[in-house]
Amino acid sequence: MVDATLTRRKDFLSILDFDPPELDHCLQLAAQLKADRSLGRQAPTADALNGRHVGMLFDKPSLRTRTTFEIAIRELGGHPVALQPDVALGHREPVADVARNLERWVNAVIIRTFSQYLLQEFAAAAPQLHVVNALTDQEHPCQALADCLTLQERIGPLRGRTIAYVGDGNNVATSLVHAAAMLGVHVHVASPEPYQLPHAVVQQATAVARHGARLRLFTDAADAVAGVDAVYTDTWTSMGQEAEADLRRRVFAAYQVNDELMALAKPGALFMHCLPAHRGEEVTAEVFESEVSVVFEQAENRLHGQKALLLMLLAPSVGL
Ligand code: CP
Repeated sequence: MVDATLTRRKDFLSILDFDPPELDHCLQLAAQLKADRSLGRQAPTADALNGRHVGMLFDKPSLRTRTTFEIAIRELGGHPVALQPDVALGHREPVADVARNLERWVNAVIIRTFSQYLLQEFAAAAPQLHVVNALTDQEHPCQALADCLTLQERIGPLRGRTIAYVGDGNNVATSLVHAAAMLGVHVHVASPEPYQLPHAVVQQATAVARHGARLRLFTDAADAVAGVDAVYTDTWTSMGQEAEADLRRRVFAAYQVNDELMALAKPGALFMHCLPAHRGEEVTAEVFESEVSVVFEQAENRLHGQKALLLMLLAPSVGL
């Protein structure tokens, strides 16, 4: 049963929508769901979302997020509803009107779109509708759930550990930093000056940090990865930034994760990437394919983390 001290959340637009005990609970539940998956229809959560409909609205491309949410909904006994991009969120009719329509038909909506503010507007317009952030330009909280689950599986209790994020201070970095701070993990972020984490994110991470977790910003990738337990990177050119790709390749060239950089981390340090990856840009093929690369474990854990999240939002009495 869910811990009675946990608050029932309507939305998950940000890791910051969870408090630290909820994040801990989500990761524990995800691990349990992963262990139970082999039970199939005999799993205790197989009918947890029976009769529930979950809309899925993606304004940007997706392999991992779309597939894992659809499977998660089905494996919990719910019904995914694929909303087409021609909904044209915010263009064909006001965002709030789309939300108020969907609230009459479905229990939750998973949304991948550009603006975090649009997502907030959507969620605020529909008080009965659970809204989940499947990536915005600002945050990618579902990715961070999978990342933390993967780290826990590979290196055990996370409190006091140190990870480095090397590259663009983007949505993935933001949610990783939020989650790590709550879990007591120190984070080193190495980015060139104009692409560092937004100041507001540094302030947020500082505000939610537990167990002395420290966030440090670097401009030198070698300084950031020295002695860390894991090195994380992401694409240098996120969706919507394609016109800047040549410039970004030049600016980020010194931030490639290669064997030389990994050699500065703790022996056996993990390599992490949310995918899709660009070999020869943010990571070399050698590091991507190396024994320390956990990128496909992260991809698998998208499923388990999101199942736990759906249970916490839609069926909080089912679970641990
Ligand atoms: N990491 C991630 O969000 O993958 P997709 O863009 O394929 O969903």
